[in-house]
Amino acid sequence: MTFHSFAAFPFLFLLLTLLRLAIANLNSDKQALLDFAAAVPHGRKLNWNPAAPICTSWVGITCTMDDTRVLVLRLPGVGLSGTIPANTLGKLDALRILSLRSNRLNGNFPSDISSLPSLHYLYLQHNNFSGDIPASLPPQLNLLDLSFNSFTGNIPPTFKNLTRLIGLSLQSNSLSGPIPDLNLSRLKHLNLSYNHLNGSIPSSLQKFSNSSFIGNSLLCGPPLNHCSPIPPSPSPSPSPTPSPPSPTVPKKQREGSKTKFSTGAIIAIAIGGFAVLFLLALVILLCCLKRKNSEGRGALKGKASSGGRSEKPKEEFGSGVQEAEKNKLVFFEGCSFNFDLEDLLRASAEVLGKGSYGTAYKAVLEEGTTVVVKRLKEVVVGKREFEQQMEIVGRVGQHPNVVPLRAYYYSKDEKLLVYDYIPVGSLSTLLHANRGTGRTPLDWDTRVKISLGTARGIAHIHSEGGGKFTHGNVKSSNVLLNQDGDGCISDFGLTPLMNFPATPSRSVGYRAPEVIETRKPTQKSDVYSFGVLLLEMLTGKAPLQSPGHDDVVDLPRWVQSVVREEWTAEVFDVELMQYQNIEEEMVQMLQIAMACVVKVPDMRPKMGEVVRMIEEIRQSDSENQQSSEENKPKDSNVQTL
Ligand SMILES: *[C@@H]1O[C@H](CO)[C@@H](O)[C@H](O)[C@H]1NC(C)=O
Ligand SMILES: *[C@@H]1O[C@H](CO)[C@@H](O)[C@H](O)[C@H]1NC(C)=O
Ligand SMILES: *[C@@H]1O[C@H](CO)[C@@H](O)[C@H](O)[C@H]1NC(C)=O
Ligand SMILES: *[C@@H]1O[C@H](CO)[C@@H](O)[C@H](O)[C@H]1NC(C)=O
Ligand SMILES: *[C@@H]1O[C@H](CO)[C@@H](O)[C@H](O)[C@H]1NC(C)=O
Ligand SMILES: *[C@@H]1O[C@H](CO)[C@@H](O)[C@H](O)[C@H]1NC(C)=O
Repeated sequence: MTFHSFAAFPFLFLLLTLLRLAIANLNSDKQALLDFAAAVPHGRKLNWNPAAPICTSWVGITCTMDDTRVLVLRLPGVGLSGTIPANTLGKLDALRILSLRSNRLNGNFPSDISSLPSLHYLYLQHNNFSGDIPASLPPQLNLLDLSFNSFTGNIPPTFKNLTRLIGLSLQSNSLSGPIPDLNLSRLKHLNLSYNHLNGSIPSSLQKFSNSSFIGNSLLCGPPLNHCSPIPPSPSPSPSPTPSPPSPTVPKKQREGSKTKFSTGAIIAIAIGGFAVLFLLALVILLCCLKRKNSEGRGALKGKASSGGRSEKPKEEFGSGVQEAEKNKLVFFEGCSFNFDLEDLLRASAEVLGKGSYGTAYKAVLEEGTTVVVKRLKEVVVGKREFEQQMEIVGRVGQHPNVVPLRAYYYSKDEKLLVYDYIPVGSLSTLLHANRGTGRTPLDWDTRVKISLGTARGIAHIHSEGGGKFTHGNVKSSNVLLNQDGDGCISDFGLTPLMNFPATPSRSVGYRAPEVIETRKPTQKSDVYSFGVLLLEMLTGKAPLQSPGHDDVVDLPRWVQSVVREEWTAEVFDVELMQYQNIEEEMVQMLQIAMACVVKVPDMRPKMGEVVRMIEEIRQSDSENQQSSEENKPKDSNVQTL
């Protein structure tokens, strides 16, 4: 049907029809679920009260954003037993995620499930299903977990048709026969262990580790032992397709395992060369810095207030300013602001937020300029050290993904920092504000873009100061969006000025385990914090609880526990579930995040590598986008009306 034939109907009629359609769908979903609950005995009470709204009060149900369909059904470990009869779950034709894991379901694979048209994630592990795995499954499945059941028979060769499969778990069943040649380009996770499979492992699956195949005594070929009794007819030379890079292993390390000893010499020479270059660069840098300090600053700080005392400042952030003729607002080079301390103190101010290092104000100056003024508390260093640090912060801030420091003010009682005002707000606000009440979801492309920008900003900081600088306070409220929607990291360089916060602060959920002991942020702990930020972006969950709750959500631990159980889908933000064809990218991003939050600091990738890995996701994305037109919200036709 074209738009023309629709346009012939009166608009209101169309709207009502669509609404009725939506309600009818939700009602039929509800009926299907009630039929299911009536037919399948369950130990724990589900509390599915027909009179209560199913999207908000039913256990295990998640609906679409507009509450018109059931999107997710999760009933893990609720004591479901027996078989799933036909004409129950099969009617949930918008269902994307189904988890019935860890129950006592038995019988053949339910025909209702194999025909669910929208199913992307299916978790049936830890039940007692038996019989053959059906040859026909929903073709768009991303994830299939049938492990720890009693399935028998072969792995259907038609699994080749499940081209969108990212994860396949069939371990601990009684499957037999050969493994079909599953040349599935997206497959990232495979487990066929502990079955009765035989024959040789197809070349397309040899990139997986031996733990994907163990416990099948009749299986042979790489990555397991060679097929000894009958030498395999296809030559055992390594498969021509190189295995895709695994983000958990830094590229250098991966190549290193293959390099021959002669490269050792090359590396030694390279290191020597770099050391000399580095020393030279350092000397030049120091010379330049000295000159800049004496020239640049002197010229720029000419315009400073002289009578700040007589006029009592009304704004909070100016209350500690005294004897302003001696203590001036110091601007950085390249800054076009044209105001002085007095102007700043006269500006109307509004509290933006209280952070771990002090309070931030939005200050609108009389001439119309808007800046952010940060009033630092508990600065523990003296003036000289403060100025030196500000010099560094000003210089390192010259990067599109770092929020630049424009000016600062130091006196005994008051320390102020002046930044550009960035109106869009922080990643934290975009992710968490107004959840639940008809908010505009933050779409996947935007999330990736923000993450990439942030990663570049942090990588830039890490590359400065001879590769010694750290940020020390990476968190979503310190990621701001510039006009291009790129992420910019703010608050750089303040950690060295402060006491390590003794009380648990709002950044505690981002803090690497080793920092809690050593109290010294490092580049590796920045990587950890960035990993938490990525997890926050993927899950939509804040790594800290709302005020009033003491318990901190340890996002890495939570994600790790979920991934162990359900290899991925449950962790993702429901808001992201309405977009098509992003599963693979989400999984890749999840792998990057998990690599960043590993416990051992040395195992974490460097920030530069993280940037490269995210860029690779984007590249493959732009290739995919040309061939797919369905990368839109699923229910867009209903939502836009
Ligand atoms: C699983 O089902 C099989 C029959 O298909 C039965 O023999 C076995 O006892 C069941 N196992 C459990 C743990 O219920
Ligand atoms: C799988 O795909 C092949 C073509 O690639 C097709 O002939 C076959 O019918 C498909 N099987 C199923 C079960 O969809
Ligand atoms: C694998 O096992 C099946 C029986 O399940 C048997 O018919 C077949 O010959 C075996 N194949 C190999 C290569 O051992
Ligand atoms: C897998 O499929 C790709 C094309 O999708 C093809 O280029 C490659 O040769 C195949 N690999 C194997 C081992 O069949
Ligand atoms: C699996 O591979 C690891 C090394 O990658 C090796 O130590 C282990 O013995 C292998 N296990 C089996 C069962 O082949
Ligand atoms: C596959 O499952 C077995 C049994 O649960 C486990 O020991 C093995 O580590 C798993 N392998 C992978 C790659 O997940």
